Amino acid sequence: MNILIIGGGGREHAIAHALSKSPKTDKLWCAPGNGGISALAECFPDVKATDLDGVIALAERLKPDYVFVAPDDPLVMGLVDMLEEKGFKTFGPRANAAILEGSKAFSKALMKKYGIPTAAYETFTDEDKAVEYIKAQNSYPAVIKADGLALGKGVIIAKDFDEAKSAVHSMLVDGKFGKSGSEIVVEEFMDGTEVTVLAFTDGKTVKPMVSSMDHKRAFDNDEGLNTGGMGTIAPNPLYTEAISEECMEKIFKPTIAAMSAEGRPFKGCLYFGLMLTKDGDTMSQSQCQKGGTDAAQSSIGGVKVVEYNSRFGDPEAQVVLPLLDTDLVDIMEAIREEKLDELDIKWSKNSCACVVMASGGYPEKYETGKEISGLNSDGQAVAAADSAYVYHAGTKLDDGKYFTAGGRVLGVTAVGEDLKAALDKAYEAVGTISFEKAHYRKDIGRKALGK
Ligand code: AMP
Ligand code: GLY
Repeated sequence: MNILIIGGGGREHAIAHALSKSPKTDKLWCAPGNGGISALAECFPDVKATDLDGVIALAERLKPDYVFVAPDDPLVMGLVDMLEEKGFKTFGPRANAAILEGSKAFSKALMKKYGIPTAAYETFTDEDKAVEYIKAQNSYPAVIKADGLALGKGVIIAKDFDEAKSAVHSMLVDGKFGKSGSEIVVEEFMDGTEVTVLAFTDGKTVKPMVSSMDHKRAFDNDEGLNTGGMGTIAPNPLYTEAISEECMEKIFKPTIAAMSAEGRPFKGCLYFGLMLTKDGDTMSQSQCQKGGTDAAQSSIGGVKVVEYNSRFGDPEAQVVLPLLDTDLVDIMEAIREEKLDELDIKWSKNSCACVVMASGGYPEKYETGKEISGLNSDGQAVAAADSAYVYHAGTKLDDGKYFTAGGRVLGVTAVGEDLKAALDKAYEAVGTISFEKAHYRKDIGRKALGK
């Protein structure tokens, strides 16, 4: 099978890596791809993922057996619909289902209608009404979200009324996020621990993958600005068997059923961003004790949805896919044929950790074009090629050398028999790679280890 992957970050590198292990894969292409992906797939750097006509033209030229659409924007813009109309087999939801990520007003209304636990909220297009509501709620922090896609930056957690008011103004009046912020969601702040669960679904059956934990803030101890993700671990030890059962019944199955009932069957990978809150729908103490670690018990009480994404997370894919023991091509086929219920998806019992090496200054201003040392010609860590895998997020290959080409540059990833072993190997590999002004967090996985 010849497969065209759309996207060009660490997530797409992880997808290419997983597909390259399938005996069914002959050739991989990636548009635009990046320096590291080019070791596994022929890349087309001039075809951006949001250039839908360019992607269609490329697909018509290459005639792939499958197109895997990985990033949010082309999914929300309807690339899967366009590819299907042309007769291509695809992985990824159509636009009418990708709206789960594309519009927070849509996803919140869906959860309200179908009784799926999430933070209480209201939506607004009018500044005065939003401010009036915030004043009446008088509860801080207050959470203000742009309705549409905003590169992960459209959420403001305001600590007081003044901050909340200026967040509303920046979105509704100043147009900070353009059209994405012309409608906003104001919602209750949820206190708790976050867990990510990615799930395969064919619109009828939902099969959760191993859980994971992202580290969104730029600096250690969760300080600094929100980023796309500075590192991940899987599985997330706080996500116990008991919590997973609760999520299955109260969140995963109801979401899939709700989307189908709305005439928007979701096929692909659905990302559940969850908060293990201290309040909310309660779970019985006996259930807590059945599977709970101390940390899970203290944060349990109810799991609520923070957000849905219509795709694999980045860098969640980098730690979840290496633990997948079933052929990803078989899963893609089962989803397309709506036979996911017949497929037994197997996961390794190991753990995986990914440490992101970013350009100094990210997520704000940063420089690119810095030569990366410590990588071999395949973009892997020379000194740790057997114990770690380096997923490239933002790199460029030029004359046999790798250069930085983005905010997040590398996702240095390792599998171990437990989380500590995985983290040790990943950090050891990180220590062998360098570029000017490289920045990475030193505490990935620390919270999960209970430290
Ligand atoms: P979102 O784009 O909706 O996932 O939000 C980005 C991040 O903001 C989440 O991963 C949370 O860390 C945080 N966040 C969003 N909504 C809430 C909320 N209602 N309460 C607390 N934190 C939130
Ligand atoms: N790592 C967060 C995301 O992919 O949305």
